[in-house]
Amino acid sequence: MARVAALLDEWAGAMAVTARERDRWSRAAWLHDALRDAPAADELAHGPAAAERAARDGETDPGVLDAVRYHSVGLAGWDDVGRMLYLADYLEPGRRFDRERRAALAARVPAERDAVLRDVARSRIQRTVGSDWPLAPETVGFWNALVAG
Ligand SMILES: [Fe+2]
Repeated sequence: MARVAALLDEWAGAMAVTARERDRWSRAAWLHDALRDAPAADELAHGPAAAERAARDGETDPGVLDAVRYHSVGLAGWDDVGRMLYLADYLEPGRRFDRERRAALAARVPAERDAVLRDVARSRIQRTVGSDWPLAPETVGFWNALVAG
């Protein structure tokens, strides 16, 4: 989570967002994988569980809660915090696969956020489809919103 938070903080600086927005990105980063290693947490369940716990602990920003809840699948109705967390979760440097390609994408985020977002979503969806895993309805809606412009 520290690497995700650090990457979001770097982007927030490069993109000159407000202090309030930077704080929303930071909260989403620290909340999103709070239950990743809890017993019975799986890839699809840990986002919703983390969002419920964040709400219980007093997080009230709907954009931050939706960022956390859907960070593994995507959501058409996301505002910037959801989009940025989705990018950081995939592009953070600690993941072992595709290191050079992901580092290049991460460097492009401040200037070309939406193009990189589409690229990342395409990669993630291709992996899901290529593994014969089902797509969540939220993922389909997210992709359709991205390609609709
Ligand atoms: Fe996660």
